[in-house]
Amino acid sequence: MLKQTLIKAAETGGAIMKDYFDKSFVISNKEGINNLVTEVDHKSEEAIFKVIKEQFPEHYILSEEAGEIIQDSNYKWIIDPIDGTVNYANGIPICCVSIGLEKDGKMILGAVFNPFLNEFFLAERGKGATLNNKPIHVSNKTEVIKSCMVTGFPYTYLDAPNGPLDVFDKLIRKGVPVRRLGSAAIDLCWVAAGRFDAFYEHKLQAWDSAAGFLMVEEAGGKVTDLIGNYYNPYQPGIIASNGKVHDELVRIVNGGKV
Ligand code: IPD
Ligand code: CA
Ligand code: CA
Repeated sequence: MLKQTLIKAAETGGAIMKDYFDKSFVISNKEGINNLVTEVDHKSEEAIFKVIKEQFPEHYILSEEAGEIIQDSNYKWIIDPIDGTVNYANGIPICCVSIGLEKDGKMILGAVFNPFLNEFFLAERGKGATLNNKPIHVSNKTEVIKSCMVTGFPYTYLDAPNGPLDVFDKLIRKGVPVRRLGSAAIDLCWVAAGRFDAFYEHKLQAWDSAAGFLMVEEAGGKVTDLIGNYYNPYQPGIIASNGKVHDELVRIVNGGKV
């Protein structure tokens, strides 16, 4: 039932995203400039909550726009009702619903659904990761210099030594293709599917990565914090890769040469 509820919740949020995409909707600013939230983020979130609460009213929920519904439960749903809101608000169909489910502090299930590409990624701890029900695996590249990467930039905090711009500058100057899609959950799923060899980002929230990091692990990849320790979604930095380029990328992100 947990898995069915997860799938239904992600599909429901995705259907709302699709429904409003071509319509006009209210867009507001959160803190900073261009850190947006739309009316559709809230609608998607409400609909996802409804699906989960119908089955599991006693579960804990952490969600980007509504915050936390704190309950004494072993289960915690971690929800991003639209990951890639800036894309969504600009009519760019690279955005998704992302939902992770933790049990006793461990991520056990993750779903990421991009309704525009009709791509549904699902991960189940110990059982692998799938894209539209077909198993997916990370890539086989072994060197950073030959890799195709993806990253994201926070709305604030860019210029620190070894920060987002420093690392990007270093990779780009050596000719490593580094994309910026604007949705961390999709970035992670595309590493899981072998489209990218690695992803790194300096400042994410738990709802950005909860589902996607399990996807990468279950597709055979590796996910750590920025210094190479086991990944915990409640701290900001992430490096997710096919595993083979991981140590080299950790070194580069921490000041090493490409
Ligand atoms: C953002 C996206 C983006 C990442 C930002 C996130 P949002 O989430 O995942 O790729 O670079 O740090 O905040 O605001 O679109 O849900
Ligand atoms: Ca997000
Ligand atoms: Ca969001």
